[in-house]
Amino acid sequence: MKKDLLCILDLSQEEILHLLEWTLKLKDLQKRGIPHRPLVGKSLGLLFEKPSTRTRVSFQAGMYQLGGEVIFMSPSELQIGRGETISDTARVLSRYLDIIALRTYRHETIEEFATHASIPVINALSDRFHPCQVLADLVTIQEALGNWRGIKVVFVGDGNNVAASWANLAARVDIEVVLATPKGYEPPKEVMEAARREGAKVKMASEVQEAVKGAQVVYTDVWVSMGQDKEREERLRAFAPYQVTPQLMEMADSGAIFMHCLPAHRGEEVVNEVIDGPSSVVWDQAENRLHLQKALMLMLLEQI
Ligand code: CP
Ligand code: NVA
Repeated sequence: MKKDLLCILDLSQEEILHLLEWTLKLKDLQKRGIPHRPLVGKSLGLLFEKPSTRTRVSFQAGMYQLGGEVIFMSPSELQIGRGETISDTARVLSRYLDIIALRTYRHETIEEFATHASIPVINALSDRFHPCQVLADLVTIQEALGNWRGIKVVFVGDGNNVAASWANLAARVDIEVVLATPKGYEPPKEVMEAARREGAKVKMASEVQEAVKGAQVVYTDVWVSMGQDKEREERLRAFAPYQVTPQLMEMADSGAIFMHCLPAHRGEEVVNEVIDGPSSVVWDQAENRLHLQKALMLMLLEQI
């Protein structure tokens, strides 16, 4: 049976550990200039409703490095834009491609596509989850701190798709996650309930200075996600006390790292001094998307 990655809960702990191990192996091979091309003759589809820099380019470059081909599609260029259904599109694209990654507004679009596709489907970001991001972030934490077991990750700001994926990750690996968000901006109740049902050590907090105490990782993301531009003014007001500043970083564990999935809105959720400062690992985070997604494609195509 084909395997998809729509959210972190689709993976077992064993699969996550396998992915981490292969991510580091593939990174090492690439750094040493050793070609590894097991996907010659395979095609990856990228169907993106929203803009992307990291996800799009890292999937494309990653598939090329593994020997495969990539076909990029935006809905406006497909018959979806003229009313062909998601389910019919999924059935047809499954006849041409070997694997596909989708970036959509509604998470349900990816779920519907996956139901009707006969090839592995990857969530490359939806309004609800961003699983590839937090998997790659776990690799970055391992590299930066030497270990992620038992650490405290504090996500500061909006309870968005990235925050929800951290809640899910805590259900699969031994990390403590605190989501410090203003009231009314928590991840959806059903997402938090599902993560807790699966055993996640995840807490909510609204007092951000208190929340970051003892954190080894301080993480943030934009206050206005793609598709929320109409809410911009009220969001900027609600999130103003949640900016990551040097003073906030000082309240975390000594040696705490700063993480951001990017793109950053400098001067909003984080100031330059932090994102460009010595505790920031954001460029390693961006790089590890490439290596993690290569491992993910190999796993879903049953090559590892
Ligand atoms: N972090 C991330 O997914 O970035 P892009 O939107 O540029 O893909
Ligand atoms: N929460 C952000 C993440 C971008 C990678 C968004 O959805 O726009």
